[in-house]
Amino acid sequence: MARIVSSLSLEEKVAQMIQAEFSSITPQEAGSYGIGSILNGGGIFPNGNKHASPEEWAEQAQAFRDATTQFSKHRIPILWGTDAVHGHSNVFGATIFPHNIGLGAARDPALVERIAEATAREVYETGIDWTFAPTLAVVRDDRWGRSYEGYSEDPEIVEMYASRAILGLQGTPGNSEFMSDGKILATCKHFIGEGGTEGGRDQGDTVCSESELLDIHAPGHLRGIEAGALIVMAAFNSWRGSKVHGNSYLLNGVLKKQLGFRGFVVSDWDAFLQIDDDPTKSCELAVNAGVDMLMVSSDWRGVLGYLIDAANNKRISEERFDDAVTRILRLKEHAGLLDRCEPRKRVLVQNNPLLGCRQHRELAREAVRQSLVLLKNNGNLLPLQPNVRVAIAGDGAANIPKQCGGWSLTWQGHENTNEDFPQGETIYSAIASVVHEAGGTAAIVDSPPTSDEFDVAIVVFGENPYAEGDGDLNHLSFSRESPESLNLMRDFQSRGIPVVAVFITGRPRWINPELNASDAFVVAWLPGTEGGGIADVLFRRPDGTIQHDFQGRLSFSWPRTPRQTQVNRGDSNYDPLFPYGFGLTYQDPYSNLCELDETDCSTSPVQVRQRRSTIYSHL
Ligand code: BGC
Ligand code: BGC
Repeated sequence: MARIVSSLSLEEKVAQMIQAEFSSITPQEAGSYGIGSILNGGGIFPNGNKHASPEEWAEQAQAFRDATTQFSKHRIPILWGTDAVHGHSNVFGATIFPHNIGLGAARDPALVERIAEATAREVYETGIDWTFAPTLAVVRDDRWGRSYEGYSEDPEIVEMYASRAILGLQGTPGNSEFMSDGKILATCKHFIGEGGTEGGRDQGDTVCSESELLDIHAPGHLRGIEAGALIVMAAFNSWRGSKVHGNSYLLNGVLKKQLGFRGFVVSDWDAFLQIDDDPTKSCELAVNAGVDMLMVSSDWRGVLGYLIDAANNKRISEERFDDAVTRILRLKEHAGLLDRCEPRKRVLVQNNPLLGCRQHRELAREAVRQSLVLLKNNGNLLPLQPNVRVAIAGDGAANIPKQCGGWSLTWQGHENTNEDFPQGETIYSAIASVVHEAGGTAAIVDSPPTSDEFDVAIVVFGENPYAEGDGDLNHLSFSRESPESLNLMRDFQSRGIPVVAVFITGRPRWINPELNASDAFVVAWLPGTEGGGIADVLFRRPDGTIQHDFQGRLSFSWPRTPRQTQVNRGDSNYDPLFPYGFGLTYQDPYSNLCELDETDCSTSPVQVRQRRSTIYSHL
């Protein structure tokens, strides 16, 4: 290794430290510069084709690989990274698993590992060797637009899942399955404190003591590294006013020295330019703070130039460049990149393509079942008999993009249609098939019927897709901006039709009015392509027995008011509406949720209300 590093020129070393967005660079350029890595940004596809096939992805990977291994001087293979954050989520036809918040509710580390294994197989098959996952954020303020990417508000679950996700993706280090066929490299992201920013602002400032930072936000990373993670992505946020990307104490000190991390640190998307207004200075600060690879959205040539300048002016030492490149090359060697099956051959090796295959979709459906949380079941309305006459309403009823949320095919996820997910099943179609088979009827309705045509209404509603800062909120009230579904539920109720609410959401929202307007209330989180998992739990078997009970338990405390945005297990004045760990099952003793306070204080100044009404007295 030392020999290869010392044989590289300064320009070649710097090129290894660049990760370019793949639409901004040709394979020939990557080969002639000896670029270390590429990524595909959210919503960027080979040949600009949103419906690109696995073969098209693999061809693209092959072209970059060939350019760097056959035509570059040192033949160091390029490494491609992608955001496979809930399945191979940027790729048409992939199985889309529930977002992490739903997996947190499932409380099942083995499930997380199996999903990571399936995701790795789908990514590998498209010729890609690295995912920017798992996200190990510990989410402390539900206004944050990335809440759903986190497993929980509490380090307990994040810690429990981190190692299983990493092992599922990469395999066990020291074992022959490590980075064998079907395995890919994982990333612990984002280091550190991105879920703790003030006001839940994306890329904001996390203001807390060092012990709080380490106790709450580091345990997941520690477990991930112990499980063999070799890549850590630095976080966009600041800690006490200092950008993590420029914070040598956190990256060089805590991560590399104290935690003994021997892999490499990749920056987040252009984040190394946020430290200082002068781009050269900014890059220099990031690299000196411990960032080894720079993720560049488009101007990779410019960034190469900044780093070469910093080297020539001795503002970044030769040792520092050598250390960064050693870390990158060591990983490429350790992960066996040179000997891996050629991207183009990977699909062919399989008898059946794995992308979106039946087994993976069944696993996703199982995950959906496990992630659902039942908040209310007055009169034991659920589970329903399948031979009922059911009205299905709400804008989430037949809406796969909404089921999937952000980071699904595109970055924000709201540009998609059902046709972009031909492998998926809507909640409506899953319910309709169960009900029709049992002799019942199911119809989508826009408004409640006037006649007595239905026994029950299922209203599927919730947040529309968003990603990152675009999802940041000022308050948690859902009906304030989206009153339509609430009105619909009230209409059904006023006609004497019992209402089952199915809430699609990336985080807890204040939904007291909707809870009052429904008889049963299910939180489905962002379930992904497999709407069938919801029908599995809502309906009994035709013989009346229960098919699947609820298993999900809140991994986020549920707010009592729209302004109760930071409510986390262990708080001194902990007073959520539903506590961390809450989730009803069909076995619970009969208990009606009483009428909740509907005062929407989302526009008024923050009020701290000390009204502790215990709603489920038996719990
Ligand atoms: C996100 C990362 C992601 C990267 C690449 C950034 O904006 O913060 O989580 O991996 O983009 O898409
Ligand atoms: C890209 C994402 C990236 C984001 C960062 C988007 O344009 O597609 O991958 O995370 O920008 O702001």
